[in-house]
Amino acid sequence: MKSTFNAVKISEHVYWVGAIDWAVRDFHGYRTGRGTTYNAYLVSGDEIILIDTVKAPFKDELLSRIASVVNPKDINYIISNHSEMDHSGCLPDVINAVWPEKVFASVMGTKALAEHFGLDNITPVKDGDSLPLGGLKFSFLETRMLHWPDSMVTFLSEDKLLFSQDAFGMHLASSERFADEIDEAVLIWEAKKYYANILMPYSNIIPAALKKVGESGFDIKIIAPDHGPIWRNKIETLPKLYPVWAAQKPTMKAVVVYDTMWQSTALMARAIGEGLAGGGADVKLMNLRAAHRSDVATEVLDAGALLVGSPTINNQMFPTVADTLIYLKGLKPQNLVGAAFGSYGWSGEAVGKVEEILKEMHVGLVGDGLKSKYVPNSDILEKCVSLGKQVADKLKEVCGK
Ligand code: FEO
Repeated sequence: MKSTFNAVKISEHVYWVGAIDWAVRDFHGYRTGRGTTYNAYLVSGDEIILIDTVKAPFKDELLSRIASVVNPKDINYIISNHSEMDHSGCLPDVINAVWPEKVFASVMGTKALAEHFGLDNITPVKDGDSLPLGGLKFSFLETRMLHWPDSMVTFLSEDKLLFSQDAFGMHLASSERFADEIDEAVLIWEAKKYYANILMPYSNIIPAALKKVGESGFDIKIIAPDHGPIWRNKIETLPKLYPVWAAQKPTMKAVVVYDTMWQSTALMARAIGEGLAGGGADVKLMNLRAAHRSDVATEVLDAGALLVGSPTINNQMFPTVADTLIYLKGLKPQNLVGAAFGSYGWSGEAVGKVEEILKEMHVGLVGDGLKSKYVPNSDILEKCVSLGKQVADKLKEVCGK
């Protein structure tokens, strides 16, 4: 029977056989405005090797693409580079469908696949191991925490192709399979958003993982990640940006995040923005009714300042502000200065509560939290402008301007 979905040949021995998720808009809390792909790859040598699988609901699409090249039952081996369920969700079903001779994963991957699915017959490969499969050479390098402890990359020597799993991926659904077929500005934005929301917490160890791959001796000409397009040209683009994003060197950019009940905190935010801009900062005002937490994280990745505004509601900060702060705290952004501000009616606890979280995030607070009882008057607005200017001055200092 003819396949509905087709494989795409990407190199001499390798076909893309993944799935395109055009509709997904939430990836465990990360808004995926452009959808995503779950990439899997079929390697055709003397034997057939499947690299990774896809999210469970897309199993039939995966099997259909495989069937456009070979009978799925002809798959001899499966290599699982990463156990997160967007890549392993249908692995148990695929194993039952094709009965491969062996399934390989990293040592941590074997444990994770056992804990996820009760798969207790996975063959571990060690960091630095190589295997001849189907007359081709596959080499494995652990890349722990890029993205999970089990993560590894696989290099196919004959095609000079690195299967990089989450690394260098992005959430971007497209009918194009190669990065050079897509607008570069879109690629950089989505790769940055992916780094900010998925990889930022591990920024202290990612450079070492990349160095390890760089010093492996692999002659990489193609990077095939598990999400988004495949890189066959300008393959150094993301490997050059990752260390920059990991370093999070402060810049003159200030992100002002806020919510508001009756526009008082919004007015304070706008006045602070004026002060920041007047002081030479690049300002990004983000009202949380219009901006998603994952877009805030993306903007914070290359910022030097984070200012957070919240009205007080029932003695607490506004729920959207709490949501975004807890999310950001988990992502562990580095090297930020900032401040808290907000309007209140009776007791005004929100600003103090925001400051507590900013301190836990090691954000260097500039001045005391700025509060306005009800609607900010001209005196308060002047203080807002002044706070913005103070933060801009601090940014100049930390940026050496
Ligand atoms: Fe795309 Fe960490 O999974």
